[in-house]
Amino acid sequence: MTRTVTPLTDGDLPPLAGLLAANGLPTGDLTMPGRRFWRVEDEDGLLGYGGLEVHGPDGLLRSVVVPPDRRGSGAGRAVTAAVSEEARGLGVERLWLLTTTAADVFERLGFQRTDRASAPPGIAASAQFAGLCPGSAVCMRRDLIASKEPAPV
Ligand SMILES: CC(C)(COP(=O)(O)OP(=O)(O)OC[C@H]1O[C@@H](n2cnc3c(N)ncnc32)[C@H](O)[C@@H]1OP(=O)(O)O)[C@@H](O)C(=O)NCCC(=O)NCCS
Repeated sequence: MTRTVTPLTDGDLPPLAGLLAANGLPTGDLTMPGRRFWRVEDEDGLLGYGGLEVHGPDGLLRSVVVPPDRRGSGAGRAVTAAVSEEARGLGVERLWLLTTTAADVFERLGFQRTDRASAPPGIAASAQFAGLCPGSAVCMRRDLIASKEPAPV
């Protein structure tokens, strides 16, 4: 199966913002500096979107969202793998995320639950950690050095 991973420009953001908003995810900081977003597609169209903020060797995985009609068949895994590969290419060694609803999914994708207070300063100061995500959100991390992305199926 062929997958394409396309970086988004500011002009590409409205469809992502719409999908994020429909799923209760933050949109208020999408155009702030330091954010990168990608669209992942296969032959059948959109698999989903994912985003990244780089803070030295640490990266914030964010805005991972799959259209409802593509969920449950590996799209979320494909989007997460694509952003993880982009992160590796940018020198990121650890990925962090906050989620209120998808901790079980990200555990399947190699992330471990961790204490929010263990996040390094750059991640802790990100808009998501500092205010956009509720304090009850689960904090998770994944070591990118010790792991590899599975080949697409
Ligand atoms: C979270 C989301 C991206 C997952 O996308 P998806 O396409 O359904 O995920 P996948 O099909 O790739 O599943 C990934 C893994 O999670 C597992 N999984 C999927 N849904 C699950 C659930 N509700 N509970 C537990 N595990 C689940 C799958 O079995 C799979 O593991 P496996 O490959 O070992 O079997 C999607 O549900 C979504 O867009 N949700 C709304 C936005 C959101 O909450 N994003 C996270 C913000 S950080």
